[in-house]
Formats: sequence, structure tokens, C-alpha cells
Amino acid sequence: MKILAIETSCDETAVSLIETDGTNFSVLGDSLFSQVEMHKEYGGVYPNVAKREHARNLTPLLLKTLKEANLFNESEENQLSKELVDELKETLSREPELFIHLVSFLSKTEKPEIDVIAVTSGPGLEPALWVGINFSKALSRVWELPLVPVNHMEGHIISSLLTQQNEKSYDISYDLFPSIALLISGGHTELVLVGSIGDHVVIGETRDDAVGEAFDKVARMMDLGYPGGPEISKLAESAREENLEQKYQLPRPMIHGENFDFSFSGLKTAVLYLLKEIGKPTDEDKKIIAREFEDAATEVLISKTRKAVEEHGAQSVIVGGGVSANKNIRKEFDKLEDIKIYIPDTKLSTDNAIMIAAAAYFKLKSGAALPDPDEIVADGNLALYPLN
Ligand code: KG4
Ligand code: ZN
Repeated sequence: MKILAIETSCDETAVSLIETDGTNFSVLGDSLFSQVEMHKEYGGVYPNVAKREHARNLTPLLLKTLKEANLFNESEENQLSKELVDELKETLSREPELFIHLVSFLSKTEKPEIDVIAVTSGPGLEPALWVGINFSKALSRVWELPLVPVNHMEGHIISSLLTQQNEKSYDISYDLFPSIALLISGGHTELVLVGSIGDHVVIGETRDDAVGEAFDKVARMMDLGYPGGPEISKLAESAREENLEQKYQLPRPMIHGENFDFSFSGLKTAVLYLLKEIGKPTDEDKKIIAREFEDAATEVLISKTRKAVEEHGAQSVIVGGGVSANKNIRKEFDKLEDIKIYIPDTKLSTDNAIMIAAAAYFKLKSGAALPDPDEIVADGNLALYPLN
């Protein structure tokens, strides 16, 4: 089965074409445009810029992906009737620039040999999600292909189960259920009891900031670049390498709590107070703070995950989301020897469309009814659900 997947939930525009038999996922084409540079000046993702950039980049990325997959065939005849163009105009009424690009592309492109289209429908930034959804609706209409809405967090879970075979091929392994998934990204920090692929119950989540958000905000407080996670991580690593004295202590919020919830806003505020107390932090101070902050966040994440594993008799741990790229967090999870840890390749830990294609495959395999494409909506807070 060949799946074309579109991801626009945040600040990466991604288009992938995957062929799968259910055990191997072969990447026929994959294009990703990161908007990070554009959001830097705002110190975070600016929704209207994200929306504009997705609209600008989706059509060229689709063309690139189809070409890479050898599935692009230019057509001699115009492929679009006037009725279709009118329909597309309505579907893309909020993305006029995308409408123009897409009509010009679709009118001279033969329908590619693919079976299904997948698109992220949430959670994420709604204006950004809508661009991908409307684009996919248009493709699904013109090429008469089914459209599968995918939960972005489900994508992150599946991403962790993929093991890279070579540059363009991943196998999936998933026999150790129930599993506890720790999903850590810029918008989420949650612990999920995974009964099997597609069967989720959220057992704990952050009450305030997501852990990635805390990394980003702490980085901003210390005038580091955006996104802050990798910057903090670099400084923390230097502090460890240089064996700097850990002269500042930060709290480990809720580490001994009864439940599986998290809170990172207090940790962030503690950094703010510490910086005020220091006055003008030196580069060395920043390294020490980055390390202490990273240690605090890592300890809380590991401790809560362990507790969830014990309480739910989990057979494995799945770590997913952008923050799972963090070296220290990966190292500490690797140390848990008594349990299998699924953690994504760093390439698949941040947002991508390969994971959306894989999640769509399992959704189709489960026999879940597909909604009419017209009924698919962006849901910024889309939750993970148990199977009925
Ligand atoms: O999953 P993701 O790409 O997008 C969302 O769905 O949010 O996650 C992005 C988050 C950002 O907050 C970023 O700072 C964080 O992941 N991140 C990291 C690292 N790489 C990315 N955080 C800590 N250490 C890293 N190496
Ligand atoms: Zn994500």
C-alpha cells in the first residue's frame, strides 16, 4: 500500500510517500521544510507565519516528493474541469495563494499511483493544521482517494516503534504491550497507557507548561537561540564535560506525587529567580544552570515513567516527541536495563510525515471507519482515545 502523508501541525511542513506491507515502511519520497529560522525572531512559533509558510511550501514539497518517488507524470491535457476548479476554490478559500499553486500543479499532473492520503488533524496550531487539511481534501477530491485523519501524538508513538534499516527503510516492532508511552514535545507532556497500537489511555499530563516549552522558555531567559531544547542540551553537555561544580539547585516538581501528572512551570520560574539573584550570569553560570535544569527535567520524567511502568505492569516504554532527541534523556532511559525502551531515531523524533503515514496505515488496518473528507476538521486539542 502506498500512502501520501501531510504534516503541518506546527512549524515543519512535511510531505512523505511511504510504501508498506505492515512490517516494513519504505520511504519512496520525503520532503520537509523547517520554518525554525522564520520563528526565531518571535522566540516561538508564530501561528500566522506558520500558516503562511505551510501554504507557500506544500505544493513544491509535494512535487519534490512525487519526483523522488518516481510517481510524478506530467500530463499533456488539462486534468481539471471547471467544476473541479470551482470546488477547489471553495475548499481553499482561506488559502488563496495555495489555491493558485495547487490548481496549476494539478491541472498538468497525472493522478499518481498511490492508495490513500493521510493528514494530521490535531493536536497542534489550528491555523497551521487547517492548511494541511484543506490541501489534503483538495488532493483527495481530485485524485478520488480516501483521506485518513491522523492524531499527531499517535504519530509520535508509532515513530518510536520504527527501527531504521537503511536510509530509506524502517521496520516496525511492537510486541511488548501494555506499554507506557512518555510523549514529550513543545506542546505536550503526557504518560499514556498503550494497550496495543491505536489503543491509548492518557494516565497523566502536565498541568501547566510542556517540557519542551520549558526548555524553550529557559533558553530564552538565558538569551540562547530558538528552539531552546538543543541549545540547553549543548550547554548542559559542556558543563558535564568540563566537570563544572553544580553550585545551583533547582526543584524536581511533583517527583514524589501520588499521580502521573507533571508541572514544569515552577521549574521554569525557579530558573528565572535564580537568574535574577545572579544578576549577570557568566557563560559558565549558564552552562551550570542548563545542566541542572536538564537534570531536573530528566529525573522527573524518568521517575514518573518508572512509577507508571510498575503500577500498570508495562512490558515496555515508548519515548516520543521532539524532546526525545535530548541526549541526556536518551542516555538516562538507556540505563533502565530491566525493560525494553522504544525511542525514535533522532531524525524521527521531531515532527515528520513518515510517522503520520505509518499511523494512518495502522488506523486503516484496525478497520476504523473513515469520515467523509468534508467532515474532517482541525482540532488543536485532539485527545488520544482508547479503542472501543
Ligand atoms: O515534537 P516537536 O518537534 O514539535 C511539537 O509537536 O511540539 O517538539 C519540539 C520541541 C521543542 O520544544 C524543542 O525545544 C524540543 O522539542 N527539542 C528538544 C531537543 N530537540 C528538540 N528539547 C530538548 N533537547 C533536545 N535535544
Ligand atoms: Zn510533534
